[in-house]
Amino acid sequence: MAKIIAISNQKGGVGKTTTSINLASGLGYLGKKVLLVDFDPQGNATQGIGASDANSKLSVYNLIMEDYEVNQIKKKIQNPPLDIVPANISLAGADLQMAQYDTGKEELLKVKLDKVRDQYDFIIIDCPPSLGLLNTNALTAADSVIIPVQCEYYALEGLMQLLLTIRLVQQLFNEKLEIEGVVLTMFDARTKLSLEVQQEVRKHFKEKVYKSFIPRNVRLSESPSRGMSIFEYDVRCEGAKAYAGLAAEVEKANREEKE
Ligand SMILES: Nc1ncnc2c1ncn2[C@@H]1O[C@H](COP(=O)(O)OP(=O)(O)OP(=O)(O)O)[C@@H](O)[C@H]1O
Ligand SMILES: [Mg+2]
Repeated sequence: MAKIIAISNQKGGVGKTTTSINLASGLGYLGKKVLLVDFDPQGNATQGIGASDANSKLSVYNLIMEDYEVNQIKKKIQNPPLDIVPANISLAGADLQMAQYDTGKEELLKVKLDKVRDQYDFIIIDCPPSLGLLNTNALTAADSVIIPVQCEYYALEGLMQLLLTIRLVQQLFNEKLEIEGVVLTMFDARTKLSLEVQQEVRKHFKEKVYKSFIPRNVRLSESPSRGMSIFEYDVRCEGAKAYAGLAAEVEKANREEKE
């Protein structure tokens, strides 16, 4: 049975997509069966993993708004070894459309993902940078949330809002939703600021903060333009080592949970 993990933070550009792609890939290389769900109209995870070929028109929009199932829409990728449900700009319209539904608008993604839970070990959802209905759908479908926090001055601002949203989703739609962990991204050990942000985040989230933190690493920012995860692009770089460490931590935590 798959563990469904949403990668969420309404703040833009904090490393959600980079973490989604490389955590999903890292878990795939650990031999886990992984489905990556691109749930952002920007389609960055789809492009970043090289799955945005023009002939395939079906995307996560068709999954949640129409009568399609994951197995009709997912694409199999060899390197990294995972399946992806792609997204494109059509998803931008879904928010307004579903807002008009009387019931069930928060559970559109959950209904579809629950049907393929037995095919995967992990389902990773890359969320958009907003707290609208798309994000609510992701949090309702998920068992847990990984929050990427960028090591910069305003890092903690907005986190309260995300925590309130998580609590609201717990109360209304998904009482089992948990915080899986917090991952520090774009960490620069040379700066006092990165260390301060790390201390602040650890003070608040304690053992929920992963030991693996993701350094600022130019290879990580280059790899999406080649349509590769960091493990195909440059497996030896610091970014690859960090995401391999994160994948191992996530895998281990969930193995222990099952035992
Ligand atoms: N550890 C890192 N080192 C260097 N660059 C990074 C790192 N992580 C992410 N980036 C770059 O920072 C930018 C934002 O990252 P990313 O797209 O992962 O953030 P996001 O939270 O998904 O953004 P959005 O909110 O727009 O969806 C991208 O250009 C990405 O390549
Ligand atoms: Mg993104």
